[in-house]
Amino acid sequence: MITTTGLTKVYQSRGRDVTALDGVDLHVREGEVFGVIGRSGAGKSSLIRCVNLLERPTSGTVTVDGVDLTALAGRGNRASRELREARSRIGMVFQHFNLLSSRTVQDNIELPLEILGVPRAERARRALELLDLVGLADKAKAYPGQLSGGQKQRVGIARALAGNPKVLLSDEATSALDPETTRSILHLLRDLNRQLGLTVLLITHEMDVVKTVCDSAALMKQGRIVESGTVSELLATPGSELAHELFPVTGDASGPDRTVVDVTFHGEAATQPVVSQLARTYNIDISILGAAMDTVGGKQIGRMRIELPGRYDDNVVPVGFLREQGLQVELVEDDREPAPESEDIPAPRTELVKETVK
Ligand SMILES: Nc1ncnc2c1ncn2[C@@H]1O[C@H](COP(=O)(O)OP(=O)(O)OP(=O)(O)O)[C@@H](O)[C@H]1O
Ligand SMILES: [Mg+2]
Repeated sequence: MITTTGLTKVYQSRGRDVTALDGVDLHVREGEVFGVIGRSGAGKSSLIRCVNLLERPTSGTVTVDGVDLTALAGRGNRASRELREARSRIGMVFQHFNLLSSRTVQDNIELPLEILGVPRAERARRALELLDLVGLADKAKAYPGQLSGGQKQRVGIARALAGNPKVLLSDEATSALDPETTRSILHLLRDLNRQLGLTVLLITHEMDVVKTVCDSAALMKQGRIVESGTVSELLATPGSELAHELFPVTGDASGPDRTVVDVTFHGEAATQPVVSQLARTYNIDISILGAAMDTVGGKQIGRMRIELPGRYDDNVVPVGFLREQGLQVELVEDDREPAPESEDIPAPRTELVKETVK
């Protein structure tokens, strides 16, 4: 539904070139909620602004719903009529709502329709329908100043939907809101995605947002996408930074002669009671040191840190059993154990070291 290829954006700032996007290949499927996460300055806003051509890419292409927007952009700074039309089918939600304070809620929602030349009665009908959809049917005549942040964002979302878009872009739509309001806005976006079949591309720096609503996610660093995939695919990727941040687990071994492993649950294996099967089959006591699980699409996915009695050499068979069940198992080494005295081996590391068990 949204594809970018080799997207680059270089800004000129005080005579210097600032590369905000450095060859971004993004692919968002129809009907999914796709989250882009990254630190401040990673290029997230530049990406979303290039997707609807609010910002002209320096090079590369942007295709939305089969239309090559970069080809419509033309050379001048003014958007062509075709580009304006294509853009009206892409809704955009902003962090600070961007509502006009002198207009009522209803008139704010009608604004994009006015620009499109939709007749007055039709505009009013559509605006009231949208207000109902976002749960603000009674606020049509209120002014933005009389609304809470969450209500303002609902108006922002209703306005973004006015042109019946297939795609909704959201740049930090919840970062000005408190946690509870954030949840309600995220659920609204999720409901709209399901009810209207809307494809949503959202930008955030909060992992929780990704976890709550996204089907897929990408991690941006310094203008590049360094990881991307569905939440399950990310979990299935050993060493995935996003998966570790989405499902963080901690917990240290309770003593020496213990084996600590992280078990990742995704796909079919996640429905099996593997921990109790493991305990029963090998007659061993298993401690759960930490877990980060979530239900996505009716299945448990996530990661659990467990401790088995004995050293790793004693646990090759139980670990093999877990792997046979289709689970990913990573050995967690504890840096508190004394390092062997050899010049070839680096000094003890301060962080937990993870290795994929072969
Ligand atoms: N109009 C501009 N002119 C010059 N440089 C810019 C401009 N807009 C963004 N940049 C630079 O491009 C880089 C990426 O900025 P961008 O706003 O896309 O990051 P971001 O990931 O959205 O960050 P944040 O999380 O803080 O919103 C930064 O180094 C920024 O300073
Ligand atoms: Mg930004």
